[in-house]
Amino acid sequence: MADFLTLDDIAVADKTVLVRLDLNVPMQNGQITDMTRIAKSLPTVRELAGKKAKVVILSHLGRPRGVDASLTLKPVAQAVAGQLGTPCTFVPATIGATAQAAVQAMQPGDVLMLENVRFHAEEEANAPAFAKTLAALGDIYVNDAFSTAHRAHASTEGLAHHLPAVAGRLMQAELQALAQALTTPERPVLAIVGGSKVSSKIDLLNNLVTKVDAVAIGGGMA
Ligand code: 3PG
Repeated sequence: MADFLTLDDIAVADKTVLVRLDLNVPMQNGQITDMTRIAKSLPTVRELAGKKAKVVILSHLGRPRGVDASLTLKPVAQAVAGQLGTPCTFVPATIGATAQAAVQAMQPGDVLMLENVRFHAEEEANAPAFAKTLAALGDIYVNDAFSTAHRAHASTEGLAHHLPAVAGRLMQAELQALAQALTTPERPVLAIVGGSKVSSKIDLLNNLVTKVDAVAIGGGMA
C-alpha cells in the first residue's frame, strides 16, 4: 500500500475536483510538437470523469511574466479534448467571475481547463491568498503533476493546505517507481540527473548521493 493518498482513497462523484497536471508541452508556431505529457495525464482525467467528478484541470505553460497570449492553454485544451474523445471546455480565466461561473455550470463527468496558472505572479510566489481563491473553486485537490512537483507553487503545493489532497495516477506511478529504485534497488545503482540549473536540483542531488552508488550529471548542470 502506498504511504500517500491516491484516487482509491476518495469519493469523487458529484464533487468538483481540481486536478493539477503538467501540460507544459513543447510548442512551435502554436502547434504542440510532442503529446507525451497529455497522453500521460489522461488516465487520471478519464478515471475522475468516469466516476462522475466535475474535473477542473489546472496547468502552467512556459514561463510567462503576466498574461501572454502566446502561452494560452487554449490549444492544449483542444488537444486534450481530441485525445479524450469528449469535450474539454477551455475557460480564458484562472480565477474570478468567469472561472467561477464556468465551474458552477459544470455537470458530473464534465472536463474543463482553466487558463495558464502562471498568468498570475501569485502562482510562482505561492501566495496563500491565491491558493485559497483557487481552492474555493473545488472540493478536492488531485496532484498529478510529478514533473512540476519540485516547485512549491500555489497550484502544486499551496492548494494542498486548503483542500483534501491526493495523488493522481501518474504521480502515484512515478512515486512508486522512485521508491522502488531508491529503497530496494538492484545494486550498483546509477542515477542520471539532467536539467538547466543546479540551484533548483541541489537538495535532490544531496539526497540522491546518500542512496545511490554513482550520479551522472547531464544537461546545463554539467
Ligand atoms: C518542466 O517542463 O520541466 C516542468 O513543466 C516545469 O517547468 P518549469 O521549469 O518552467 O517550472
